Amino acid sequence: MTDQEGGDTAMSQPMTLRNRLSLNNIRWVKAVSKGVMTLLVSTMVSMTAVAETGGIDSLRTIDLSVEPPAEAMKKVLESDTTFHRDFIEQPPLIPHDIRGYTVNKDVNTCLQCHSWKNASKWGATRISVTHFYDREGKQRADVAPNRYFCLQCHVPQADTAPLQKNNFEPVDSLK
Ligand code: HEC
Ligand code: HEC
Repeated sequence: MTDQEGGDTAMSQPMTLRNRLSLNNIRWVKAVSKGVMTLLVSTMVSMTAVAETGGIDSLRTIDLSVEPPAEAMKKVLESDTTFHRDFIEQPPLIPHDIRGYTVNKDVNTCLQCHSWKNASKWGATRISVTHFYDREGKQRADVAPNRYFCLQCHVPQADTAPLQKNNFEPVDSLK
């Protein structure tokens, strides 16, 4: 008897109750997993639809598979004075262009004007005392690592239409 014939014999054996039960189980599992798959696929489809726009009007009005032409560089708003702050803890906005100012682990161009040592020479605001406290609240002799990458919090401005309407109003004492 070859292996194949053995297989055939096993198949043609009369079905015991146990066999039938497990066959039913298999059918049931198949049916459930088919249902789960359909559900998964439909959820994924609706998730992509939401992910594309995040539920709001997307700036990207073109098909995702199309590479749109790069937008023209915006003109940075520059001012000899500083911008108004709308709340006490607001990182002040940068009132000058920062193109070409490098900030990496070796150089920080911002500090060449904004450090306590150099600020008065440039007429720039000194970095705030808060920038000397590290995340444990320990005061350091120089700018703390968590304040080193200035552009995480401070950004220049361009005169463009707001992406989202914002009704924020500063308190009277800051107006
Ligand atoms: C060449 C000197 C110079 C460099 C470099 C420089 N700044 Fe300034 N910055 C100034 C001066 C001067 C002012 C004051 C306003 C003015 O004259 O534009 C200022 C103002 C600011 C203000 C506003 C402070 C306030 O009180 O509102 C922020 C924030 C700021 N700079 C951040 C930065 C950051 C971040 C960088 C690096 C990416 C940087 N600056 C690099 C000179 C400089
Ligand atoms: C984690 C966010 C954060 C980072 C990083 C950061 N700042 Fe600030 N910065 C603030 C906030 C918030 C304020 C306003 C409140 C305060 O004074 O702490 C501020 C205030 C300032 C001011 C105004 C100080 C004053 O006396 O009015 C200057 C100038 C400034 N930052 C420059 C810098 C420079 C330069 C760097 C990089 C070396 C930097 N900041 C990194 C959040 C940050």
